[in-house]
Amino acid sequence: MINYEQIKKRLVLALDVEKIEEAKDLVEKLSPYIGTFKVGLQLFCGFGLEIINYIKEKNANFFLDVKLHDIPNTVEKASYNIVKNGANFFNVHATGGIEMMKAAKKGAIEASEKFGHKKPIILAVTVLTSISNEILQNELENKCRTKDFVLKLARNAKLAGLDGVVASAQELPLIKKELGEDFIVLTPGIRPSWTAKDDQKRIATPANALKDGADYIVLGRAITKADDIIEAIKKVYEEIKENK
Ligand code: C5P
Repeated sequence: MINYEQIKKRLVLALDVEKIEEAKDLVEKLSPYIGTFKVGLQLFCGFGLEIINYIKEKNANFFLDVKLHDIPNTVEKASYNIVKNGANFFNVHATGGIEMMKAAKKGAIEASEKFGHKKPIILAVTVLTSISNEILQNELENKCRTKDFVLKLARNAKLAGLDGVVASAQELPLIKKELGEDFIVLTPGIRPSWTAKDDQKRIATPANALKDGADYIVLGRAITKADDIIEAIKKVYEEIKENK
């Protein structure tokens, strides 16, 4: 039987909204139910540290979803600053290479030691879900099949010492099988049984993604666009409890 704290720890909410007031309202209302709030490029480029500081005031974790991809030195220094600002999670593109991923880890560890922050979870993004087989093979002239490329990049991330990857529910079982149970998988594209799919294709319900081994699941519009967000998040808890 999974309890409230165990569910809360695994839930990540994507704050994909335009206005800072909207983001703050979501954090305020949902922090009793959500372990980690994900701040992406839209919000971070618009409002920078303001939203991050607000999340920290509410004693929630924050995930800076900025997908770093640059030369190792730049990524090391950016990672240092991300962790200095208290990020509990952040991510980098695995296509930046092993040296770049190691540099991210080096910068992150240096900052966590210097500022006494908990070591962050660093995740790699493998192949974006917006990149189809067609784009990968023809436009980018990468002759691998997407699935093989995802696995290769996940292995590189592990070799570089990163903690895990972001992967859809479809890739989740394979990644756990190939990379091991301890290699963290954070899964977006989550849709409770009672919500719309929106533009997501490789979806899973919260309960199924957790059953397949997801360590963290990302909830977005299923909650943020619900008529009653509290009722919606409570229904997610129920669905997980009933099916786990
Ligand atoms: O609203 P929805 O549940 O679709 O939001 C999913 C979140 O997860 C968004 O922030 C999206 O950018 C992110 N994401 C994704 N697919 C990936 C990686 C990240 O949907 N492969």
